[in-house]
Amino acid sequence: MCPVLRIVGGQPLEGELQVNGSKNAALPIIAATLLTDGEVRLKNVPDLVDVRVMLSLCRVSGMEFGYRGGDLIVRTGQIRECPTRPEAGSIRASILLAGPLLARCGHFQAPLPGGCSIGDRGIDFHIQALRMMGAQVAIGSDMIRVRTGGLHGAQVELPFPSVGATENIMMAATLAEGRTRILNAAREPEIVDLATFLNRMGAAVEGAGTSHIQIKGVEELKGAGHEVMPDRIEMGTLMAAGAITRGRLTLKRCPLNTDGEFFDKMAEMGIELSRRGSEIAVACEEHRPADIRTGPYPGFATDLQPIMAPLLSLADGESTIVEGVFDNRFNYVSELRKMGFRAEGDGRRQTIRGPTRLQGCNVVAPDIRGGASLIVAALGAEGVTNMASCQKVFRGYERIDQRLRSVGADIELMGEDDDLEG
Ligand code: UD1
Repeated sequence: MCPVLRIVGGQPLEGELQVNGSKNAALPIIAATLLTDGEVRLKNVPDLVDVRVMLSLCRVSGMEFGYRGGDLIVRTGQIRECPTRPEAGSIRASILLAGPLLARCGHFQAPLPGGCSIGDRGIDFHIQALRMMGAQVAIGSDMIRVRTGGLHGAQVELPFPSVGATENIMMAATLAEGRTRILNAAREPEIVDLATFLNRMGAAVEGAGTSHIQIKGVEELKGAGHEVMPDRIEMGTLMAAGAITRGRLTLKRCPLNTDGEFFDKMAEMGIELSRRGSEIAVACEEHRPADIRTGPYPGFATDLQPIMAPLLSLADGESTIVEGVFDNRFNYVSELRKMGFRAEGDGRRQTIRGPTRLQGCNVVAPDIRGGASLIVAALGAEGVTNMASCQKVFRGYERIDQRLRSVGADIELMGEDDDLEG
């Protein structure tokens, strides 16, 4: 039986939750461990379906891993083969194995990456950069094969500050001959976390967090320890969940210095955030309309726009969301409409009209963040929502049902099966 998430709306969320380790930081960091034959100890790795898929792909390449005191211990003594397994197609982050595997063994082969269906998500920037660094790339209808007799440094100017391409180039460049420069690099905090980890392994990466990253190739990387940064997208989702129920939630272990435009918009939307170190208390008395435009960091994170949409629908007035990163990231709108959400527009822009009293009903999660949007809407709606395809949400949110229940949500996973466990 396919599991369904059943949510009875209207319960104010109250209490404390700890923000988990970041999925989008953990995935490239796990890929980067393939660059060394030394032991790596990673703290704060979230236990998510996407992380498990990434680990199982790395295992095919020769990685051995286990857990010690909650930390992930990883060692790839020798690279065995490339991840041709079909799971590689199920997460987009599998392309992040290209950089480390090329650098370590000169060969990468995998099904073309999948992931969320949010518009056209090409890998041309990755391919172009790897070619400039001395790789030969062959793309079939469903496979990508990349080989190199040795990578060398290059100056790569990205057409758009792609997070994944920046990470892939950084990883490939750590062991390449000479110096690599990435211009128009992505500036996301997860890039900084990856660079910190690479440097702990002995790499020479400078400028992460700016648009100009420089990497000087080194002979080899060694084992290291690292604590994965907290998940700013999970933090934003939990804030939205607290705010839509007009509850009082305190979030612990929030990421520091990663706010971008997000906190300003939350304030505009009537959400009060009081920060004390890494702890943030969330309260909301009145929902207010706002205009959100997503963009590369420090712009408003595209992953958080679906999650803000239900909050905007509760506000009295008109709000807009303009999507500046993906071609079509409004696939959740048709599901929200079933709950009474009023919005019109196209794949780039939606105008939301409020106030609306959202009503619980049967919905289907379109992808990770679209599913999270439906959960937030259901928490603030009247009546019962049953969300099918909820496995998609578990790709990015660890035990979200149990954690929301611990702060007062009426939420239950019905008909759980092995798929959710991994
Ligand atoms: C990462 C995040 C994802 C987030 C996104 C944007 C991970 C695992 N995922 O995805 O959650 O939504 O950043 O913040 O970290 N593009 C191309 N060609 C390429 C690469 C990208 O055209 O070769 C385009 C994409 O189609 C998209 C835009 O560039 O329109 C941004 O994509 P990118 O930053 O690469 O996103 P991901 O790294 O896939």
